Amino acid sequence: MIKTLVLYESRYGSTWEAANIISLILGPARRYPLSQFSEDCQNFDFIIMGTPIYNGKIHPKMANFLDQKREWLKEKKIALFCTCLNGSEGLRVLREVEDRLEDNVLELGVLGGRLQMDRLTEQDYQNLTEYLSREGLPPQGMDLFNIEDIVDWALRLKDIKDELLNKLPVSRLREEVENFLKQHNTCTLATSFMGRVRATPLEYVYNQGQLYILSEGGEKFANLMFSSRVSVAIYEDYTGMDNIKGMQITGQATIVDDLDEYQQVIEMKGMKMDFIRSLPVDLHLIRIDLEKVEFLKSEFKKEGYSSRQILKF
Ligand SMILES: Cc1cc2nc3c(=O)[nH]c(=O)nc-3n(C[C@H](O)[C@H](O)[C@H](O)COP(=O)(O)O)c2cc1C
Repeated sequence: MIKTLVLYESRYGSTWEAANIISLILGPARRYPLSQFSEDCQNFDFIIMGTPIYNGKIHPKMANFLDQKREWLKEKKIALFCTCLNGSEGLRVLREVEDRLEDNVLELGVLGGRLQMDRLTEQDYQNLTEYLSREGLPPQGMDLFNIEDIVDWALRLKDIKDELLNKLPVSRLREEVENFLKQHNTCTLATSFMGRVRATPLEYVYNQGQLYILSEGGEKFANLMFSSRVSVAIYEDYTGMDNIKGMQITGQATIVDDLDEYQQVIEMKGMKMDFIRSLPVDLHLIRIDLEKVEFLKSEFKKEGYSSRQILKF
């Protein structure tokens, strides 16, 4: 498991809010202002640092921290973000920091900041009115803080973090994933459309990168009519942290109308078409083409691999 440390500095709360959202999505994570950095932070693997931009520079406390902890940071994988009003300036400033940190900066994030004139100190008010007039902007509050942008950036970081996992060889991982899928027969299928969500426990059968589900119908189809994007969870009961086994699948669902495919699945399940025809109601077939499997198995750790593994189909 890769542990993430989110370190930030914030004067008026925007960078703090962004750091909070990022650490929620990147968990397992710890979020600290720089003032709380301590020995406990040494063994985190992935370090995300966030700063506001003031007068064309990163926060002075962040600048000091980067100088003081240069040696420690050399050993880490890093992502940097800022909140600011002028995105191109924010990017320039972050690139300067990146140059000083050499090769281990994996991602930069320029996020919109927030400015409430009535909350500023006398000194900041003065500095800011000078900054706004230099930029040709009116001396008034601004709100460029956008939660969707922050969530998108955090999800990108999550993918980057997954690349840092100690990976099983792909052929072995595929075997592990397929064995797990074949050893189980019940999943939770999550479908959604707009504000409507549905999690449905269902029996499935796995065959070559696809899950097949027979269903009499129900609310999940209301969502599938509009969105084929699905997520599937298959897992064992929790007995302890050293025995976790479960997967989250991302895939595309199709309601199968091809008779040959339907018949093959019925055979695969050891049933006869005559039996299906004798039923008083229709049985529909859903096929889920697997795209990505996130497999959590604590036992991988004993072999020196990350307990979390990602298989892309
Ligand atoms: C005194 C002052 C100077 C600022 N200077 C800049 C600047 O040079 N460039 C910029 O893009 N934003 C500038 N901003 C906007 C802040 O970067 C933005 O409001 C940020 O989100 C504040 O972060 P915080 O709420 O975490 O303190 C300035 C804001 C203040 C109050």
